[in-house]
Amino acid sequence: MRVLGIETSCDDTGVALYDSGQGLLAHRLFSQTELHLDYGGVVPELAARDHIRKALPLIRAVMQEAKTRPDQINGIAYTTGPGLAGALLVGAALGRSLALAWNVPCVGIHHMEGHLLSPMLEPDPPAFPFTALLVSGGHTLLADVQALGRYTILGESVDDAVGEAFDKTAKLLGLGYPGGPAIAQAALDGDPKRFQFPRPKTGRLKTQGAHPGLDFSFSGLKTAVVTAVQNQPLTSRLVADIAASFEEAAVDVLAIKCEWALEQTGAKQLVVAGGVSANRKLRERLIHLSEKLGVRVFFPRPEFSTDNGAMIAYAGYLRLAAGQREPLSFGARARWPIEEIGAAKN
Ligand SMILES: Nc1ncnc2c1ncn2[C@@H]1O[C@H](COP(=O)(O)OP(=O)(O)OP(=O)(O)O)[C@@H](O)[C@H]1O
Ligand SMILES: [Mg+2]
Repeated sequence: MRVLGIETSCDDTGVALYDSGQGLLAHRLFSQTELHLDYGGVVPELAARDHIRKALPLIRAVMQEAKTRPDQINGIAYTTGPGLAGALLVGAALGRSLALAWNVPCVGIHHMEGHLLSPMLEPDPPAFPFTALLVSGGHTLLADVQALGRYTILGESVDDAVGEAFDKTAKLLGLGYPGGPAIAQAALDGDPKRFQFPRPKTGRLKTQGAHPGLDFSFSGLKTAVVTAVQNQPLTSRLVADIAASFEEAAVDVLAIKCEWALEQTGAKQLVVAGGVSANRKLRERLIHLSEKLGVRVFFPRPEFSTDNGAMIAYAGYLRLAAGQREPLSFGARARWPIEEIGAAKN
């Protein structure tokens, strides 16, 4: 089965072709980062218009690279949500229309399910069930993944997502957007011990050795950075030390919560995905943790950590192969809790 995947939930237009026999055939991504740079954030209307401009040329390029004609495509998958409504509708309208024109089935995919399954595109992939840490620009959550579409959230951020904390801290330090890679780069020259930033919600409770649960909070960490930069010139030394200390604190929190989650589920596999999973320090720490616990850890290749079409094509393949079929109607869900996805439905 050969599936075309289309991702347009935010500021990246991603397109890919996945083949069940041959694996990923081709993928393309156009990032709108530059388009939104002057505005200090993603402008939804501009994002939607740019997806309209880029999606078809990317689909043509991917089909050409994979030497695939329309009659060789057996299904189409597009991101239904969560994300920006206008941006999502571009992918949904395009995916649904192509499926109608080519007379093939079509499925709408939950963006976070795409991230969650992205490590399965790698050689030696994980198998259900597993425990997952999803860390991106909009989400920080730990989930117990029993099967395709059967996800129980174990904990999530009560305020900022960890990627958002990276982005806001980078902005405070005068580093560029996206903040994650900029902080990681600056941190290479910094002293991670110079600032003892808080590790929110990680203190063990005194009674019975219990811990404060698997929810996260990152807004306090950002406030601590604000305090650290106050009333002093932002020298490159200070920027590097804050970046390193911030990264250390964020990685500590994520690793501690992963350990508790694995204790709770007893899972032997940990899957880590989403933009922040590209972070080298986080990868090193979680590999170390997994060795300590005798658990296997899986990551997507760094380019599939952030938004991409490959993860949508792959999730679409799994759902189409499980028999999911959708009617001609389509829509977008700007908000969509991952626990509400459900298994593949006919
Ligand atoms: N090397 C890195 N270290 C830390 N953070 C990173 C790194 N690379 C990317 N990020 C962060 O990942 C986030 C982008 O990831 P992704 O594209 O998965 O998120 P999103 O699509 O914006 O949000 P969501 O998937 O929740 O809707 C940004 O916050 C970015 O700073
Ligand atoms: Mg994303």
